[in-house]
Amino acid sequence: MATRRSTKTQPADAATDGAANGKKGKQAPTRSGGLLVPNIGLTDQARGQVCDILNACLSNTFVLYTKTRNYHWNVTGIEFIQLHQLFEEQYEQLDVAMDAIAERVRQVGGIAFGTLQEFKSAAKLGEQPGERPNAVQMVRNLLDDHEAVIRQLRQDAETADELKDVGTNDFLTGLVQEHEKMAWFLRAHLED
Ligand SMILES: [Fe+2]
Repeated sequence: MATRRSTKTQPADAATDGAANGKKGKQAPTRSGGLLVPNIGLTDQARGQVCDILNACLSNTFVLYTKTRNYHWNVTGIEFIQLHQLFEEQYEQLDVAMDAIAERVRQVGGIAFGTLQEFKSAAKLGEQPGERPNAVQMVRNLLDDHEAVIRQLRQDAETADELKDVGTNDFLTGLVQEHEKMAWFLRAHLED
């Protein structure tokens, strides 16, 4: 059975490198497992929680990216060209978002997920393998997923705020706006 890599940051080791930098009165950054622990005013526990949130968000985004790409390939019907192009624009936006989320994990000292197993185990969004939805159902499925992501992001932004992580709070708020715009484009397709 495959083992799952912990999403949490390592707690800081004792400041073993403090005397090694040769600068009197200046302490070298604390190391943990070869990584420098960010000294950015967040506790190890807060950074660990934030990394869990971000890696779960990355996993959901990967599922939504894959679903959008699947629909780009397989959409049919009278609106083929419009939806084929809309789905392409949206999976490109999700690709950019994934990169930013993973890099945010690194900025707060965590390790970003990078395997399908990790994405699958942490994602809350479901997939519908074997199903072949029509164009309207594709738009509906994507809209449902974006709205679920938005609801989750609202909670996550609040948690980041409670953990005093203003950077991640702002980052997640930005993601809410991006998903709200993509959801609007999809919703408009379903309206009269
Ligand atoms: Fe394509």
